[in-house]
Amino acid sequence: MLTFIYMAYSMMGLLLETVPVFEDTWIECLGDLARYRMAIEDECLRDRETWTVVSRGWYKKASDKQPSVGRLYHHLAILARPSAIRQLFYYSKSLCVEIPFEAGRDSMMTLINPILEQNSSQASTVPPIDLAFVQCHGVMFSRKKPDMLSTAMAEFLGLLDNCIGRAARDWLEPGHLIGIANCCAVVGYGFVGNPIWTTIKPQRDADAEDPPPAEDEADTRTSQDLANALQLANKTHDVVLRRFGDPNVLSYFHVTLVFMNYLTSRPEAIPHMAPSFPWKLAALMLNTLLSECRTEQYPRIEGKVFPRPEEEDELQPRPLPEDWALRGLVWAADNFPSGWFSNDKLDEDERHFEIASHAGKRKERVLYLGCQIAAKSSEYLRYDSQVHQFNVSPQYDIDVNPMHISPADSSDLGELPDAPAAA
Ligand SMILES: *[C@@H]1O[C@H](CO)[C@@H](O)[C@H](O)[C@H]1NC(C)=O
Ligand SMILES: *[C@@H]1O[C@H](CO)[C@@H](O)[C@H](O)[C@H]1NC(C)=O
Repeated sequence: MLTFIYMAYSMMGLLLETVPVFEDTWIECLGDLARYRMAIEDECLRDRETWTVVSRGWYKKASDKQPSVGRLYHHLAILARPSAIRQLFYYSKSLCVEIPFEAGRDSMMTLINPILEQNSSQASTVPPIDLAFVQCHGVMFSRKKPDMLSTAMAEFLGLLDNCIGRAARDWLEPGHLIGIANCCAVVGYGFVGNPIWTTIKPQRDADAEDPPPAEDEADTRTSQDLANALQLANKTHDVVLRRFGDPNVLSYFHVTLVFMNYLTSRPEAIPHMAPSFPWKLAALMLNTLLSECRTEQYPRIEGKVFPRPEEEDELQPRPLPEDWALRGLVWAADNFPSGWFSNDKLDEDERHFEIASHAGKRKERVLYLGCQIAAKSSEYLRYDSQVHQFNVSPQYDIDVNPMHISPADSSDLGELPDAPAAA
């Protein structure tokens, strides 16, 4: 087996060099072979890790060329172990792109099944908050153990604020993965019957590689499934968006607004979503960001064009880490200007690395999206360009409870029980 894989691997490498017309095929094959090599390695963990990295590299290369192919995200999900959150993100994404990978639904169950069997009082390699979050999605995706949903959701939401506070900058990545996974749940992971997915799903041509199951035998979803997903999304927003002025939640807010901006331009889809979106909180969060803006930034935020960083070389854009995560999703297709991902000088690590200039760009992007949403319809979010303030339509103008103080604030804890006694 080993010999075969090595032989095939070097043959593919040769084909890649000599027959570039089929480059996409060779690259994906190299990814497959490296993945098989990883899978049969059960002695040396280091080798396993090495082959995982090699395989992931080929699939990312392939995915760069075909960002709307779900199959490649599915393979990346397998390679994302042991991070349950990353796996969930990739599996969900593989179903919400232009060419969804329907066959991948069964693999998603290999992530979900063991996780639904666990409970947070047991020792687990998955951190409790991730466990609870994946359980929420596991119940919604599989419809197994429906009773578990409210417990898992309460557990996740109860840990969330504290977790963001502690992770600080390290929440930028889980933040956008969580945000996108929740959007995928709202569109029903591409299941037949989800009313939002029905209006936004890509039209398939007859030669689609794997046709969806016929309407009557499909696992169809009901309005209750949508209500569950909306509840999870709304409650997550409610915790995250109360962290006014926290720059570490902006990757989450950014991916959320990309979704909302897309839906606002879909009159058949937005009525399903809008009533459970906390518009008022979003407006307050946006105003907090505006208060930190310089006057000369207004035209970029309020303009109709995607705010490209001025100082940046047109030919070598540097997308935000969450831009790569959004790329390929049905609702992000029109979000980026052409050529946005064309900078091939960025290697894999650089893409995901948060650099200092990202914070300012992200803030601009979020405000720009807020203005786009307000410009499409005044039914939800509104923007007054005279005073540079966001507001909401009267329907959504609720009282937001006085800013809650997170119980984790050390000032509230008084004496720490395990603090060393003063000498
Ligand atoms: C979680 O596991 C513990 C120990 O295995 C068990 O006693 C408890 O009943 C479990 N809780 C749930 C909700 O399954
Ligand atoms: C959204 O969540 C908040 C906080 O839990 C709640 O007050 C509000 O009623 C929810 N909105 C909807 C439409 O469910």
